[in-house]
Amino acid sequence: MSRLAIFASGYGSNFQAIVNAVKNNALPAEVVLLVCDKEGAKVIEKANKENISTFVTSPKSFESKKHYEEAILEALQEQQVDWLILAGYMRLVGETLLRAYEGKIVNIHPSLLPSFPGKDAIGQAFEAKVKITGVTVHFVDEGMDTGPIIDQEAIRIEHHDTYESLQVKIQSIEHSLYPNTIKKLVAGGNHS
Ligand code: GRF
Repeated sequence: MSRLAIFASGYGSNFQAIVNAVKNNALPAEVVLLVCDKEGAKVIEKANKENISTFVTSPKSFESKKHYEEAILEALQEQQVDWLILAGYMRLVGETLLRAYEGKIVNIHPSLLPSFPGKDAIGQAFEAKVKITGVTVHFVDEGMDTGPIIDQEAIRIEHHDTYESLQVKIQSIEHSLYPNTIKKLVAGGNHS
């Protein structure tokens, strides 16, 4: 069974959705570690409740990104992690992890990439007044939301939508799309 580490910095609704999918036997994998770069993030409480190990560390306490990622890598190797699942991890993955986990790092982004990469993709879509936006799951490379796309789902922005209602719709898509995509990835099938 594939061993997953989830990387998150914030609330952790995607973390919870993935853990729930595992618990409901909808995702044949094991979530063995939460990697979090923000002390006090809500996602840490969620991991504790689920008895999932956490590796919480601030990059600021390391002299370089390389040292920070080497510490993470050690924790990943200790847990024999196969896949890195980014879910609201608010930093770019560096060379150390990219090299160690080539082709095994994925991210979810709340827009139809390549539109609206970076921060506040929902706000960017709303401001741009586009009629369709969505969610993308993609492989992670050194860029900001630039790696090869694995899966996408579109949603229509209705005239009555607010930022909040759009966010609710996006998140509900994320919570089913991400576990489903991970399921295909760990099964090693054709996921194009
Ligand atoms: C999600 O919208 C995800 O697409 C983006 O960050 C958000 C994380 O939300 N990368 P949560 O912490 O999983 O609730």
